[in-house]
Amino acid sequence: MAILDRWTIDFVSSSVEQTTRLGVRLGELLQVHDLVCLSGDLGAGKTALARGIGRGWGSGLRVTSPTFTLVNEYPRLSDGRILYHIDCYRLEETADQYTVGLEDVLEGSGAVMVEWPERIQPMLPEDRLWVKMSYVSETRRKLHITAAGGRSAELLEAFKKSAFGV
Ligand SMILES: Nc1ncnc2c1ncn2[C@@H]1O[C@H](COP(=O)(O)OP(=O)(O)O)[C@@H](O)[C@H]1O
Ligand SMILES: [Mg+2]
Repeated sequence: MAILDRWTIDFVSSSVEQTTRLGVRLGELLQVHDLVCLSGDLGAGKTALARGIGRGWGSGLRVTSPTFTLVNEYPRLSDGRILYHIDCYRLEETADQYTVGLEDVLEGSGAVMVEWPERIQPMLPEDRLWVKMSYVSETRRKLHITAAGGRSAELLEAFKKSAFGV
């Protein structure tokens, strides 16, 4: 892992299992109002990471790529608090009629993770953790994580400790 500065880390995951495990670490630390953006091409591993985050959050449900829905809900078993999974893959950049209701999710009382966040960029709160995933080889993916505000920097700090012990 490379710590580029207080706001950024870079590392390479060597397997889908490792990506999911890292997601678990992050999901355990997530709090309501937190936002994690998952950016990267198809097959970059966004949903694999999201699946771990859902597990770490404590939902008994398996996170999947929603085929027709824009938003899936994963309530935590302990207290019912919801982790929202928004997948904007099918959104055109200008198809704002489909984004009705997303503000409520983004400003609501749950935690949120978003795939293809670029497609709703203007709607996204500033303070967010931005994970940019990219293909390295068949089994390896690079993760570049940037914090963009006070809470996300705190989250990144805690994640570094939990996942890498630093
Ligand atoms: N290190 C890795 N991390 C995540 N996925 C990986 C990795 N290596 C291989 N893969 C594979 O890449 C694919 C990622 O799929 P998915 O998580 O649905 O991507 P996305 O949501 O970004 O389109 C899966 O088939 C997974 O098995
Ligand atoms: Mg996906």
